[in-house]
Amino acid sequence: SFGAAAFSAVAAGIIIIYKVYQESQPVQQVPQSPFFPNGEKKKTLVILGSGWGSIPLLKNLDTTLYNVVIVSPRNYFLFTPLLPSLPTGTVEFRSIIEPVRSITRRLPGEVIYLEAEATGIDPTKNEITIKQSTTVHSGHSGQDTGSSKSTVPDYTGIEEITTTLNYDYLVVGVGAQPSTFGIPGVAEHSTFMKEISDAATVRTKIHDVIEAANLLPKDDPERKRLLQIVVCGGGPTGVETAGEIQDYIDQDLKKWLPDVQQQLRVSLIEALPNVLNSFNAKLVNYTKRVFNETNINLLTNTTIKKVEDKVVICNQKKPDGTTQTVEIPYGILIWATGNATRSFTKDLMSKIEEQKNARRGLLIDEYLKVDGTDNIYALGDCTFTKYPPTAQVAFQEGQYLAQLFQKKHELESIKYQIANPTDKTNIERLAKKLDRLEANLPKFQYEYKGSLAYIGSEKAVADLAMGTWSNISTGGGLTFLLWRSAYIYMCLSVKNQVLVVLDWMKVYLFGRDCSKE
Ligand code: FAD
Ligand code: NAI
Ligand code: MG
Repeated sequence: SFGAAAFSAVAAGIIIIYKVYQESQPVQQVPQSPFFPNGEKKKTLVILGSGWGSIPLLKNLDTTLYNVVIVSPRNYFLFTPLLPSLPTGTVEFRSIIEPVRSITRRLPGEVIYLEAEATGIDPTKNEITIKQSTTVHSGHSGQDTGSSKSTVPDYTGIEEITTTLNYDYLVVGVGAQPSTFGIPGVAEHSTFMKEISDAATVRTKIHDVIEAANLLPKDDPERKRLLQIVVCGGGPTGVETAGEIQDYIDQDLKKWLPDVQQQLRVSLIEALPNVLNSFNAKLVNYTKRVFNETNINLLTNTTIKKVEDKVVICNQKKPDGTTQTVEIPYGILIWATGNATRSFTKDLMSKIEEQKNARRGLLIDEYLKVDGTDNIYALGDCTFTKYPPTAQVAFQEGQYLAQLFQKKHELESIKYQIANPTDKTNIERLAKKLDRLEANLPKFQYEYKGSLAYIGSEKAVADLAMGTWSNISTGGGLTFLLWRSAYIYMCLSVKNQVLVVLDWMKVYLFGRDCSKE
């Protein structure tokens, strides 16, 4: 049996290596062209974004059926569920990103990728304006203008390029930007947890405050302030980030910087009475208990109203119903209060009558078509639907749209054959087929598979939907294992799966280090 085990291990290893090798090779592709061989026009499908909606759409699409162009300022897909693991080095950033071109170069039909951001749209002309963008940002640039100003770094000498692009079909998958609710000082003084660059900034800041504090005497109030890490927002992003940082303090910084570690304090500030409000009450209470044990300072019923460079000013509701103003000093402020609409999405909404009442995102129908348009589709965090703004939803919408565009091509192809018949006796049969296809165009249906959040100290909470018959909620060490395997499974490429497992093994064996980014 030892022989069998060894044999299986070697076989599995070979399969993995082969799969990773295969993933790293481009394939022969059908080139883009204005017409199909039968003379039918090949339509241009422009996809905006390279996130959880757009990439699954692309991966599942038969790209020989359209001239596909993908436009995104970020030339990689980011596996957001593991982003909170980056600042502490639990996972390395290259392990959770996949370049757009390693995806597009492996599809059956040629796909053009443009590193640019859509800045405006003219739906009457089927035209978008795109601006080349060399930096990936969260949607704010040091000040809260609501628009995203990309700054082209001057070392390249690249001048900003703006151009237009026409589409027959447009899919909007630009996601959302971090919300600030217009609270003064947020964009200037805090770091979001949305992009790789945010995680790198948090990493740098952690070591900056540690090293600065280390130069000050132990009882210096400035030292105390520097070592306060404040996380605003008790949604899953804030909870996971606080949990990961506390792990780093307890498991690693304790070894290398015992004096500083004792004074490092993570505070999580939440406006509502509870954290993780999308999870059930049992899990919410479990999270509270774990935070208590792990020394995360949980401040609920506390709303940040203003951010200054060294303190946040909050309104705190007391049990007797009165409120008081409290100032909380911080060395690092991480801002995770959910989503706001991007300027491109707002531009599109402003140009369509049916979207005039839309506030929190594009209104779409059951085919994910933007209300008030014929040829614009939208998915993920830039839409406002009955579904939550999660990767799970965007992913399923992307898969669905890939099928829909396949069906739409079939329909259009039949229409073309009816208009340009090679055999007139066929027309009736084709017309029937067309009717049948049109009547049976599938609608999007969301299947909730459960949600999981890591809460630190190797514990996780999970709301699991097992079929339709039960709803299991768990918390604890076992859930942590489940959480990790679920993510490993969800990580999209085999290469990423291997890299993440290796990162976890490295941390298990050697711990996380305490160097700067
Ligand atoms: P995104 O994935 O954000 O993609 C948007 C894309 O559009 C990006 O490539 C961006 O660069 C690009 N873009 C932006 N502006 C423009 C423009 N003007 N023109 C063209 N392209 C543009 N959800 C879960 O279900 N489970 C989780 O565990 C989970 N964990 C998360 C952890 C964190 C830290 C965060 C921030 C989110 C997490 N989410 C999770 C939520 C999930 O990431 C989002 O719901 C999901 O990314 C939405 O997909 P999307 O395609 O709409 O947007
Ligand atoms: P969120 O919207 O879920 O939570 C934001 C929290 O910030 C809210 O609880 C809100 O009350 C609080 N808040 C807002 N303003 C505040 C203020 N001024 N002061 C104090 N608190 C304030 O946002 P999050 O966590 O970024 O998640 C966004 C989406 O992504 C959600 O749909 C979430 O489900 C999904 N997601 C899922 C994850 C998972 O399943 N593991 C992980 C991360 C995100
Ligand atoms: Mg997307």
